[in-house]
Amino acid sequence: MSVRLNLIAAACENMGIGKNGDLPWRLKSEMAYFTKMTTNTKNPNKQNAVIMGRVSWECIPLKFRPLSNRLNVVLTKNNDLKVDDGVLTFSTLESAVEKLNSLDNIEKIWVIGGSYVYKSAMESEYPCRLYLTKILKNFDCDTFFPEIPPTFTEITDPDVPTNTQEEKGIQFLYKVYEK
Ligand SMILES: NC(=O)c1ccc[n+]([C@@H]2O[C@H](COP(=O)([O-])OP(=O)(O)OC[C@H]3O[C@@H](n4cnc5c(N)ncnc54)[C@H](OP(=O)(O)O)[C@@H]3O)[C@@H](O)[C@H]2O)c1
Repeated sequence: MSVRLNLIAAACENMGIGKNGDLPWRLKSEMAYFTKMTTNTKNPNKQNAVIMGRVSWECIPLKFRPLSNRLNVVLTKNNDLKVDDGVLTFSTLESAVEKLNSLDNIEKIWVIGGSYVYKSAMESEYPCRLYLTKILKNFDCDTFFPEIPPTFTEITDPDVPTNTQEEKGIQFLYKVYEK
């Protein structure tokens, strides 16, 4: 497995990503893109891992938790956090990545939020790709995507549509950056 981290996030014009422990918008096609990108593997015998902060974990509705067909990994400093069987917990991003890198059946590592986990990943030594959905509208948010370091440049990925998307009258773009 390559140790590249793949970050995936959706942010609105003010770079907001969350409000009251939830997403500020409901965009089914954007959610389907998230599911497809984080789940699909080239090798049918492998799966991907999704790394998330404890708050993002708790934000996932119980019926969708753990996220299916992916190894769910939760970052927390709380050694007593109770999670479902098969879900891994770590107290640092580095220890999580080290463990995942030692597993033969993991194809890609996806970092799925929230703010501090994205920041830790972008500022880490690991090569990173950032799949950022830019929602072309402002929403009231209390959680924000961190500043993207200047080491990131925009790239194209053949798996990612480049045309403007639209749902419920809201336009959005799938962007990809790499460092
Ligand atoms: N739009 C999007 O793409 C997107 C994606 C994800 C989440 N969200 C939204 O963002 C909000 C949640 O994000 P958030 O930033 O508030 O919280 P979060 O990053 O999901 O969780 C924060 C917690 O995770 C643990 N943590 C984070 N980084 C860690 C690290 N490097 N090492 C060890 N533990 C670490 C700590 O848990 P302990 O306190 O247990 O130690 C910390 O309190 C929600 O509103 C959610 O809906 C949006």
